[in-house]
Amino acid sequence: MSHGRSVLAVPGSSQRFLVKAATSAADVIMIDWEDGVSGADKPTSRELTLAFLNARSLAEVTGARNGPHAWLRVNSPETEDFALDAAALDQWATTDYQIPVIIPMAATETVNTAADRLPHRPLIAMIETAKSLEQARELAANPRVIGLMFGEYDYLATMANSGSLRMTDTTWAQARLVNAAAASGKWAIAGPNADFSDNDGLRHQASREAELGFAGKLCIHPSQIAMVNKAFAPAPAFVRWAEELLAELGNNQTLDGAFNFRGQMVDPPVIDRARTAVRMAGGAR
Ligand code: COA
Ligand code: MG
Repeated sequence: MSHGRSVLAVPGSSQRFLVKAATSAADVIMIDWEDGVSGADKPTSRELTLAFLNARSLAEVTGARNGPHAWLRVNSPETEDFALDAAALDQWATTDYQIPVIIPMAATETVNTAADRLPHRPLIAMIETAKSLEQARELAANPRVIGLMFGEYDYLATMANSGSLRMTDTTWAQARLVNAAAASGKWAIAGPNADFSDNDGLRHQASREAELGFAGKLCIHPSQIAMVNKAFAPAPAFVRWAEELLAELGNNQTLDGAFNFRGQMVDPPVIDRARTAVRMAGGAR
């Protein structure tokens, strides 16, 4: 199952946000039943979300081609709310779209609990603690897990509890998470930027995360979607270069091994990456 470049977090308790998100340019909307929703609003959140999904007002939620896909973030399997979330999800029994379920505070035990209780649903493990980062490799290897997400604010909060109160540099944690996912052929989504009025900050952060190997990024406000889509799309200049390289290859059957293409060395892994860029650019919405 594919990832999104932009994954818009939408508290399930807000009908207005849900409707707005469904017609946004986000690749995915992450309907949230966890941190984005107050304890008092959680029951409403379940009801509203299911009514919304059942009404299919999400531009044909199931396999939408032109609208966003939907993922659902439930409460941690360690909480009582998880049992209520799972019971509510049992009512969303459609077989044509197995809505991926995001497991917060993922750890081996919590993901196993979720996998047992939510059979057939694809899972996304949210890496939010030092412990879950240490287990990221194993979590990504779980066949039910389709990808990893970085819960950066929760990660920083747990690190602060270990004395790292001034920690801001999460580069190592991010790189480790990306590689753990890729080791099992899975993707990784970067955490959100809470400062939704700082466009320059978002541009800088998202392009750095794309360069580190993330496939996409959580957004918390619609104003962040366009920039995130752009940051995680293949760079237009690289796609042009790749198209020209592939055209040259098609015209010249003798090109093999390593060769000189416009002053640069090209060999099989370079060609492989060029093919992927062209395919991704063609498939981009
Ligand atoms: N999804 C869909 N629509 C959203 C949205 C979201 N996450 N955030 C804002 N909007 C909509 C608003 O409804 C408004 O549209 P409208 O005028 O047609 O109603 C428009 O975008 C502008 O919103 P704005 O007034 O700037 O934001 P706000 O003050 O209402 O809300 C937040 C700000 C941060 C509270 C809100 O964006 C939010 O709840 N984000 C998600 C937080 C979350 O899920 N966190 C946990 C997961 S990381
Ligand atoms: Mg959290």
